[in-house]
Amino acid sequence: MSKILVTGGTGFIGSHTVVELQNEGFEVVIVDNLSNSNIDVLNGIEKITGIRPAFENIDCVDYVSMDRMFEKHKDIQAIIHFAANKAVGESVEKPLLYYRNNLVSLINLLQLMPIHKVKNFVFSSSCTVYGQPDILPVTEDAPIKLAMSPYGNTKQIGEEIIHDTIHSNPFYRSIILRYFNPIGAHASAEIGELPNGVPNNLLPFVTQTAIGLRKQLSVFGDDYNTPDGSCIRDYIHVVDLAKAHVLAVKRLLNEDANTNVETFNLGTGRGLSVLEIIETFEKVSGVKVNYKIVGRREGDIEKVWADPTYANEVLGWTANETVEETLRSAWVWEQNLAKRSKSE
Ligand code: UD1
Repeated sequence: MSKILVTGGTGFIGSHTVVELQNEGFEVVIVDNLSNSNIDVLNGIEKITGIRPAFENIDCVDYVSMDRMFEKHKDIQAIIHFAANKAVGESVEKPLLYYRNNLVSLINLLQLMPIHKVKNFVFSSSCTVYGQPDILPVTEDAPIKLAMSPYGNTKQIGEEIIHDTIHSNPFYRSIILRYFNPIGAHASAEIGELPNGVPNNLLPFVTQTAIGLRKQLSVFGDDYNTPDGSCIRDYIHVVDLAKAHVLAVKRLLNEDANTNVETFNLGTGRGLSVLEIIETFEKVSGVKVNYKIVGRREGDIEKVWADPTYANEVLGWTANETVEETLRSAWVWEQNLAKRSKSE
């Protein structure tokens, strides 16, 4: 049974990935400093899979503690590195926090890998590296545009750091995954998205408005060059996304398969507007969402959706869930959270 290190494993995408890894028989070690997640997530993972993953409360920026962690958990075969800050707006206000947390943690892991004989590395990147693509759907070889935020820049620089490191030392093997917009929750409603404070992202704001935690959802702009004027994104079920990580790890572990570094888009291939998301959510939940059109949000891209062909051909991966099912899962999760907080 291969042992996989998952940094940020109690976070939104991380926790769903841990479940899929354990379901496939991998042994998981989570490293997370709980800065944007909750230790209770481990209970959710255990309820779903019957296995409580090993957990280390460590900040990946702390080189010495990470070194000790590798000493303690010997024979790690691959790393999936989720641990990072991800709020675009906050990154504009606190750029050094983002550069430090997102880049130092990456550098630490890459430095520690050869010392502890870990070859394989999966990196969480983002469609943000494409900016506003000239051609849609966007493929992996589309040009990288100037980053719109320090957060986006950490993903671009992170990808470059991986390429340079592998170029200097062919010991490493890496898969870079560019996520589009992950939403939804596990079908069990034991784990899901747990944003801290007021959500920045669309879906948690929609579900929190529907349940009455927020008065009104602001729709940022209806004057874009899109059919209904609101922005278009490629919303992907977090469980579909999680499954791609298992396939990426399997590919890295297969010595024959991988070249040194490969990059994949993880999206559905389908673009939906903000207003279409709200409308579909209302249909599946039966709840009206109180929303108001307001001005554009600075830094938003007009439209982007993935061409996921390469991930399909090479990883054998496709996004299977419908948007209806995805939105329903997010709603069931939000209702479950409300029940839990009432009973506390
Ligand atoms: C952003 C980042 C992405 C990052 C993700 C994670 C960019 C271009 N994108 O995605 O790289 O991985 O955050 O945090 O940097 N919206 C509203 N009202 C709201 C919230 C959002 O109308 O209250 C709209 C936005 O204008 C956008 C869409 O919903 O059109 C999706 O927004 P959001 O969920 O924040 O994700 P992105 O900005 O696409």
